[in-house]
Amino acid sequence: MINLQNQPVPVIVDTDGGVDDALALIMALNSPQLDLKAVTVVAGNINVDQAANNVLRVVSIVKPNTLPIVAKGCEKPLVKQTFNAAGIHGADGLGELDRFQEADGTLRYPKLTIEPSTENAIDLLLKAAQEYGDSLTIIALGPLTNVATAIQKDGATMKKIGRIVIMGGAVTAPGNITAAAEFNFFVDPDAAQIVMESGIPLTLVGLDVTMKAPLARQVVEENLQRHPSKVTQFIADCTGIYMAFHRDNEGFYGCYLHDPLAMAVAIDPSLVKTESLYIRVETQGRFTTGMSLADRRDRRDHKANPPNVEACLDVDTERFMQLFAQLGNLLGNLPVGI
Ligand code: BDR
Ligand code: CA
Repeated sequence: MINLQNQPVPVIVDTDGGVDDALALIMALNSPQLDLKAVTVVAGNINVDQAANNVLRVVSIVKPNTLPIVAKGCEKPLVKQTFNAAGIHGADGLGELDRFQEADGTLRYPKLTIEPSTENAIDLLLKAAQEYGDSLTIIALGPLTNVATAIQKDGATMKKIGRIVIMGGAVTAPGNITAAAEFNFFVDPDAAQIVMESGIPLTLVGLDVTMKAPLARQVVEENLQRHPSKVTQFIADCTGIYMAFHRDNEGFYGCYLHDPLAMAVAIDPSLVKTESLYIRVETQGRFTTGMSLADRRDRRDHKANPPNVEACLDVDTERFMQLFAQLGNLLGNLPVGI
């Protein structure tokens, strides 16, 4: 995994272009520890075209010295019907940016002038696996359709990569889209199961830890007032609908930093405590589709089912928030907790 002392590590971020994906991408673009080779895009929070636009929007706001390649991948889950989260992330998947205007009436987020690559995300993943081998980490922030499709196409090449850090699943915590399932695994459980049984080293950053990483609305608004910039304005704008959803449905005016925590774990694995577990994903459940089921029995068959995942079960929230503040353009000390 990534060593803080060493050279930046080659990574690919695979994302479904939602609000917390955008915050995680800002971190990746600002992180000296990561060498972001490309962003591959998958349908999830929103359709793949809009998700790619959202990634390009983030890139156009952060303006990194080197623009990452942005490549579109799968338009729908492997088996299940498409299911999105526009009701949570906004109709565009990114807080409905079209509604914001500057004082002179012009659009704050005008039409983009950059476009995605013509290269397919699956080909790009396989090419990167071949080129960078075990130095490559994939940070997967959406449904695992792209990654699973690459494994189906050429599992041997995908097995060359060092690790996949996955935001997904819930081992001991309840689900967030159903009682049993976390959103990314629920959207494409078949893909998640293919990845679980791939033999590639996996780190699972699930709801067990991401629900311990909340960001309050007040912090985002104060940050914008104290440090006005294109990035802090964008953070306040894109999180509006997402945070209001949590206020209206969960009584907490803010959001959980699901994808940013996965990004942080890729940068600094010492932020979390992990357990080696054997996990399968339910693909056929009546009530439990997308559930990440860990075998935690004492008498489980270790030989037949050796651990396939390092699952994060606890997080140092304070240290995570420091890293998030530093890389996420949120300045000053962030209050921890709700
Ligand atoms: C995950 O679901 C998506 O809506 C978020 O972007 C995150 O990746 C959290 O369950
Ligand atoms: Ca996501």
